[in-house]
Amino acid sequence: TANLNELAVQAGLSYFGSATDNSELDDTAYVAILSDSTEFGQITPGNGQKWQYIEPSQDTFDYTSGDEIAELAEGNGQILRCHTLVWHSQLPSWVSSGTWTVDTLTSVIENHIANEVGHYAGQCYAWDVVNEALNEDGTFRDSIFSETFDGGAFLPVAFAAAREADPDAKLYYNDYNIGYSGSKATAALAIIDLIRDGGAEIDGMGEQGHYIVGSMPSQSDLENVASAYVAMDVEYAFTEVDIRFSSLPATDDGLQQQAEDYAAVVNACLNVEGCIGITIWDYTDKYSWIPNTFDGQGAACLYDEDLEPKPAYTTVSDIL
Ligand code: XIL
Repeated sequence: TANLNELAVQAGLSYFGSATDNSELDDTAYVAILSDSTEFGQITPGNGQKWQYIEPSQDTFDYTSGDEIAELAEGNGQILRCHTLVWHSQLPSWVSSGTWTVDTLTSVIENHIANEVGHYAGQCYAWDVVNEALNEDGTFRDSIFSETFDGGAFLPVAFAAAREADPDAKLYYNDYNIGYSGSKATAALAIIDLIRDGGAEIDGMGEQGHYIVGSMPSQSDLENVASAYVAMDVEYAFTEVDIRFSSLPATDDGLQQQAEDYAAVVNACLNVEGCIGITIWDYTDKYSWIPNTFDGQGAACLYDEDLEPKPAYTTVSDIL
């Protein structure tokens, strides 16, 4: 039987991929599955390209962790999605606690992006240029960026710098809960214009897709919102999908519901011309970030902790 990425490509997507993280790469059984490009045609570094690792102090760059994942993907013949450049989280304190003007923070952003995107130029299919800039109500999230720029004016700065450093990488705005209708999706749509009105270019919108079993947006809502982005002449991707149980252990009925919930994501992407790929935020419950961040929650991935496929895996495979 065919594997997920080959099925996805046959179905018209560009890839089916997974996030991974440096600490997981000495697990040989885990790496064997991850590295099979018929299963995962694309890799995203879960942490290694974030600002705190790449530029931990001003103008000092360390590419060790990011390079390890980039080289793994390259060796496996897998597409690399690069993640992420401007984000309020995992941001070193020299940035978040610095005293900045618009001019000095512009220089800091431009220098960070010129270095990092320049370093990876030619290796990244796409960059998540700005991550999670929005609140649920569609206002800009409080951060050193929005506070210094008094709103979203840092976005065109970041996108212009990324374009200059790697003209071939697709430049994405990435966030959670922007893939179904509501204030946040409306604001995300407006971000496309904000970037263009600011003289920069944007190529893609990424819905992270961190969902909860049994409280998914409907497939039709996912499709409608994805189509609205694509109508703005950008591509679309599900970039960090996992669908977690809000309480554990997972029951058999729950695992069946989870399979239906994954089906909504996959069907939505297949049905929207311009939805180009799906990435899961690690493929196995063994290494999911969920239990560390959401106390008592988890079992969100397609493979269980023993690296065995779950019911949702079978459903995704059947749909693809
Ligand atoms: C997560 C990583 O998976 C964790 O290992 C880390 O501790 C925190 O960040 N949205 C994102 C990702 O854009 O970068 C986050 O990744 C998950 C939520």
